[in-house]
Amino acid sequence: MAVRDIVTVGHPVLRRPTRTVSPDELAGAEMQALIDDMIDTMHAAHGAGIAANQIGESVRVATIHVNRNPRYPYKPPIPLTVVVNPVIEPLDDEVVEINEGCLSVPDLRGNVWRHVNVRVRYLDRDGVEHDEVKRGLTAGTFQHECDHLDGALFLDRVTDTTTLTTWEHFERFHRDAFVARITDFVARVGS
Ligand code: NI
Repeated sequence: MAVRDIVTVGHPVLRRPTRTVSPDELAGAEMQALIDDMIDTMHAAHGAGIAANQIGESVRVATIHVNRNPRYPYKPPIPLTVVVNPVIEPLDDEVVEINEGCLSVPDLRGNVWRHVNVRVRYLDRDGVEHDEVKRGLTAGTFQHECDHLDGALFLDRVTDTTTLTTWEHFERFHRDAFVARITDFVARVGS
């Protein structure tokens, strides 16, 4: 297990759609070691999630874990989840505007619109199939990681570029209003 370097915006590996992982490959030592590295790297960087291509491996695998995250203290907890070959689909047209950041986009945050209710199908690291509904900010986190695996970044979804801000200026000028709005939203949606 090892903490790996995180690839940042501009590197082509972040822009290539990742390839699907076969069941045999998933069970192999190499893929299991990669998953361990992703978890270690995500935790070391205090990320809410990380996609394999963010550490330079172009395979359709992401890890997600939110537990009183200092980067996103308003996010409800998500248990450590390994998603392999995820397929995500919106369940309706409800959307919410979320201020996001990304380990591959140092020192920049911005507002993106995310679906509030999504269905996610994926394999876990043991190859077990999951078919789940995610809601609210948790649904947003899954959409952010699936975007990575498709070669997209949250920057692509920032429609109002005046919302782009450094982390320092987010704290200073935007945090309170955003946290108030999103806390009401989380209370309503429950996640
Ligand atoms: Ni990201």
